Amino acid sequence: MKAFKVVIVGGGSSHTPGIIDSLIANLDRFPLKKLVLYDIDQDRLDLVEKLCSSLIAKLGTDCEFFTTTSPEKAYTDIDFVFAQVRQGGLKMREQDEKICLRHGVVGQETCGPGGMAYGLRSIPAVFKIIDDVRTYAPEAWIINYSNPAAIVAEATRRKYNNYKILNICDMPVAIQLSFSKMLNLEKYNDLEPTYFGLNHFGWWTHLYDKEGNDRMPELKEKILQFGLAASHDKHHSDPSWAHTWQNFKEILTDYPDFLPNTYLQYYLYSKDCMEDMDPNYTRANMVMDGREKEMYDQVKKLDENENFEVNLNLFNAFGDFIVDVAESIAFNKKEKLLVIVENNGSIPQLPNDAMVEVPCYVRAWGPEATVIGPIPTFHLGMLQQQLASEKLLVDAYFENSYQKVLEAFTMNKTVPSGKIAREILDEMIIANKGYWPELK
Ligand code: NAD
Ligand code: G6P
Ligand code: MN
Repeated sequence: MKAFKVVIVGGGSSHTPGIIDSLIANLDRFPLKKLVLYDIDQDRLDLVEKLCSSLIAKLGTDCEFFTTTSPEKAYTDIDFVFAQVRQGGLKMREQDEKICLRHGVVGQETCGPGGMAYGLRSIPAVFKIIDDVRTYAPEAWIINYSNPAAIVAEATRRKYNNYKILNICDMPVAIQLSFSKMLNLEKYNDLEPTYFGLNHFGWWTHLYDKEGNDRMPELKEKILQFGLAASHDKHHSDPSWAHTWQNFKEILTDYPDFLPNTYLQYYLYSKDCMEDMDPNYTRANMVMDGREKEMYDQVKKLDENENFEVNLNLFNAFGDFIVDVAESIAFNKKEKLLVIVENNGSIPQLPNDAMVEVPCYVRAWGPEATVIGPIPTFHLGMLQQQLASEKLLVDAYFENSYQKVLEAFTMNKTVPSGKIAREILDEMIIANKGYWPELK
């Protein structure tokens, strides 16, 4: 069986142990002969390497392993690039969230002006990764988690036509895992979805089991009665994710046609979500004081006592999904997976060049979208507004246009007025100096 060479970009992330764990669990299906962790921060690489030493040992002697901060070393002789970088780090995420909240707007990593501010930082960082990969490994597949995935996907479509680039998200997978458990099924892919939307902005219309029965009616009834089952994925079981899981029932009660992606809460109930957020202590702070600190604390304990038993952050939905995607490409398995793809008629009322999230057959040459067909006016209207907002932001990036960022912010459903959009934008320009393109 063929074996593969993989590099994890952003190897110093606290999500990396989860990816390594999933790679190891799937070695029989997706054999590895090289695993590289690449990051711009050697200290974080050392930290993750130390934490994961027992996992790395399980890669076996046939698999080369090293960490590096050199793009040349990272990408030379590589088949798959798994990217998960956060330009500006959690400190800039904190700015994104807090600036919005100061103006009474949802402060969220990927949604609203916070997500768009992150987009303007992330696009050039992801472009640099792609350019480096193409220099040292022209034919490598790049599977990208780096957020905001919707905006990044639109930007990579324009610049690279997404040649051997696939942008993905673990949220539908994590939610589907809860759906499966509610139906006494095991895995996220024990249910085959029909789903349509944009990244962090979509709905399930059907969920078929292996026998071909649509389990959605039964699932809806259960959720309307008891709520969505707790998260079965370690990442999304963090206490600060609990309200997101609880809000699912409310969204379904108010809009019962389809099962929603949890991120729709920020658009459907912007004001309530904003009021629930603490403008002085946002999700970025929780992550820094939570999984970040835990990573550092554990290495400290390990340094003090080499027998200390490490408790790793094994974020399995995240790790399992990227390995499933890579495996489907590597062996042309045509697995039907929810990924971000050019619309090309899948949702006929949206433009062909919209980057949508729909089930795709993931083949050796990339994702082949399935046909969704016409969607109802309510969902279409929401999608068109969000799509326009995302497209304006990417226009703004390529054109260095202040006006288009302003329009992107104003267009977003989370922003109540153009005046507020401008105030947020003007503060963000200052906070993002050195990260954003210069806006004219
Ligand atoms: P993090 O800041 O904890 O870790 C990111 C790592 O990337 C750090 O070690 C940092 O040094 C490194 N890095 C930053 N810029 C880099 C660059 N240009 N090249 C190489 N390395 C770089 O962040 P995190 O919370 O672990 O999240 C990482 C990314 O994954 C974020 O973009 C996050 O939004 C994304 N994410 C996406 C999904 C999804 O569904 N698409 C799910 C989870 C996380
Ligand atoms: C989900 C989403 C990701 C997002 C993450 C944030 O997994 O799919 O796109 O980055 O949540 O989680 P956090 O714990 O960092 O707030
Ligand atoms: Mn996501």
